[in-house]
Amino acid sequence: MFKRYKNIGLASAFAAFVAAPLSATADDSVEVLHWWTSGGEAAALNVLKDNLESDGVSWNDMPVAGGGGEQAMTVLRARVTAGNAPTAVQMLGFDILDWAREGKLADLNDLARAENWDAVVPDALQGFAKHDGKWISAPVNVHSTNWVWANKAIFDELNLSTPRTWDQLVSALDKIQAAGYTAVAHGGQPWQEATIFDAVVMSTGGPAFYQRALIDLDDSALRSRTMRTVFERMAILRGYVDDNFSGRDWNLATAMVINKQAGVQFMGDWAKGEFINADKVPNRDFLCFRFPGTTQQVTFNADQFAMFAVSGDRQGAQAKLASAILDPSFQSAFNVVKGSVPARTDVSDGAFDACGKKGMAQLAAANNSGNLFGSFAHGHAAPAAVKNAGYDVITAHFNGEYDAAAAAEEFADAVADAK
Ligand code: GAL
Repeated sequence: MFKRYKNIGLASAFAAFVAAPLSATADDSVEVLHWWTSGGEAAALNVLKDNLESDGVSWNDMPVAGGGGEQAMTVLRARVTAGNAPTAVQMLGFDILDWAREGKLADLNDLARAENWDAVVPDALQGFAKHDGKWISAPVNVHSTNWVWANKAIFDELNLSTPRTWDQLVSALDKIQAAGYTAVAHGGQPWQEATIFDAVVMSTGGPAFYQRALIDLDDSALRSRTMRTVFERMAILRGYVDDNFSGRDWNLATAMVINKQAGVQFMGDWAKGEFINADKVPNRDFLCFRFPGTTQQVTFNADQFAMFAVSGDRQGAQAKLASAILDPSFQSAFNVVKGSVPARTDVSDGAFDACGKKGMAQLAAANNSGNLFGSFAHGHAAPAAVKNAGYDVITAHFNGEYDAAAAAEEFADAVADAK
């Protein structure tokens, strides 16, 4: 399907950059830590592995299972503490900046300049890819979290149209449940609950409220009536989840929608990678639409490969990896499989399916209209300490530990302590 694009400009810029390190003693391998272990994720990662291997770089895979990357970040901390950092690490938003502040990341400026990354990577991503004027990581995609993935056969059977408002959503879920299906496929892990929370905050409070509450971490927004409504709505959604949700991986929840056991999943567009991997086609087998009440907004997260400062003999292969990630043709091939959209603004949507085209158009429109916001659940709204403190409350409430009023209070307290 995809053939490595041999771009003369890229190749020559790149040759100049790697000439020195690729000596007789150069280590032509990269060790890459990531959490892409589901079927769709692994298929996407293979595009990158194959590209590099055809370029003479061998790939030492370091997968750490666990959607959202919490476990991967724990393993990474241990590796760096032991003085043994991988070449590159899949990473999200504020985590990248934290590692940069610790002085652990490489300086990719020569390569970035040669390949003109400044001109093609969206500003929203550059904010997390650069530190102190230096490029420190290579952005591979833009995902967004406010999507709904629906089984089309169930929607057809029950004559459901796409819900646009909260009330329409609840009415659709009632009908799906009454027909004997699990209405909401969900995996009970904190990051998955937080992913739904992103969408519910945006839908309930609107973009200005999302900004104040989850990005500015404004105490009065967090203690407002709106936040209580958010938790009330989270409890309503909890009522549509099956009994076996606890601890379920996100891709198994996606499989419930794929297999017509469940009506919808609220999940980022990595879920599309699972549908594609199962040979499902948008608008024939499944539907993708924005969470009701968030049709103009995009809550995004971008996977990047943070490049660690490595010894001179490993820098050549590291630069090849970074260059391969930013290659325009790779960005198309990878994101078609992954479910995300390119991390460059100059990649055509030609190869993308209907959901991918929609995602690209909506991302551009949201960016132009001031409706693009970092995902709280996926590390692009607030630093990891705040995110993790928030996870605990969102999950405890989802599991019935607090009512909505107590949860809103606990959430505001947790954020205040962590920020
Ligand atoms: C997200 C990541 C996605 C996907 C997902 C589930 O944080 O950005 O690429 O991997 O976790 O694993």
